[in-house]
Amino acid sequence: MKQQLESIRKAALDAITQAAGTEELETLRVRYLGKKGELTAVLKQMGSLSPEERPVMGQIANEVRAALESALEEARKRLAEAALEQRLKDEALDITIPGKAVRIAHRHPMYQALEELEDVFVSMGFTVLDGPEIELASYNFDKLNAEEGHPSRDWSDTFYFDEDSRVMLRSQTSPMQVRAMETMELPIRIIAPGRVYRKDEVDATHSPMFHQVEGMVIDKGVTMADLKGTLNAVMEELFGKGTVTRFRPHHFPFTEPSCEMDVQCHKCGGKGCPTCKGEGWIEVLGAGMIHPRVLEMSGIDSEEYTGWAFGMGLERLAMRRFKIADLRLIFENDVRFLEQF
Ligand code: DAH
Repeated sequence: MKQQLESIRKAALDAITQAAGTEELETLRVRYLGKKGELTAVLKQMGSLSPEERPVMGQIANEVRAALESALEEARKRLAEAALEQRLKDEALDITIPGKAVRIAHRHPMYQALEELEDVFVSMGFTVLDGPEIELASYNFDKLNAEEGHPSRDWSDTFYFDEDSRVMLRSQTSPMQVRAMETMELPIRIIAPGRVYRKDEVDATHSPMFHQVEGMVIDKGVTMADLKGTLNAVMEELFGKGTVTRFRPHHFPFTEPSCEMDVQCHKCGGKGCPTCKGEGWIEVLGAGMIHPRVLEMSGIDSEEYTGWAFGMGLERLAMRRFKIADLRLIFENDVRFLEQF
């Protein structure tokens, strides 16, 4: 029996010290110390021993049990430490690795130009309005005095949503004039920036979606001199003191008289160069005195009130402000381009 106990001790201790995982340890515990384990089986034979042998064997058996138990405990500790070690290794964080730089975005140059423009107008008492891009043709055309058959209403120029040409992507921000007249108290001073849509092919100066800024003033005694004075002051704020402008006669259905305003070319100072296509001038906006019929259609007494309005292309303004040569750069959103502003 003594031999039996010794061989159990040896085999069990070997197996326990070599165990590679906690599951294996548990299997070994059951195998040797469990109710049906090998050591238990030997102890059950104690009854067949002589009274002298019994306490001797009993003591050895107890020693073996104690040895196995402490070996198991030690092995458990060893495995737990190894597992922790491994986890620390796996989850190690190397704080000496350089961080990834976060790129902070900034305003698109066109919106920078718009913000500057808004600041100038707001400082003059104007309110900035926002309006729908999906617009009724009645606002985009009828109430702006562009009657049925007007060339700008053609399907080849305009994105319509319905067969009857009543709902469309607005082709200009001018419908915001009507929306302002219908909802605001007089006098009115507003600007309304936003996207507009036309069936244009993309090239260096055209895009089917672009931005306009509409402006409108209605009050008693407003004249063409106010229009010129205000727009000249705005251009000087944007492009610097002494910026030279000129007003040319033009035609728009919703203004009478109508004009276009040019700014003297910043590149050549008016001599003519590739930037201004040899003209010496760059066209910036259309404007005019609001047609009395337009005022009347929106319920404003044109005998008592007069007004002026303008519409300018925002891309073109930004291109001049930041000396950008190609319109497509504004829409591509290439960071190498955008980061320059
Ligand atoms: N809506 C015109 C266009 O898209 C621009 C324009 C001209 C707006 C004269 C106006 C204006 O308010 O008075 O070509």
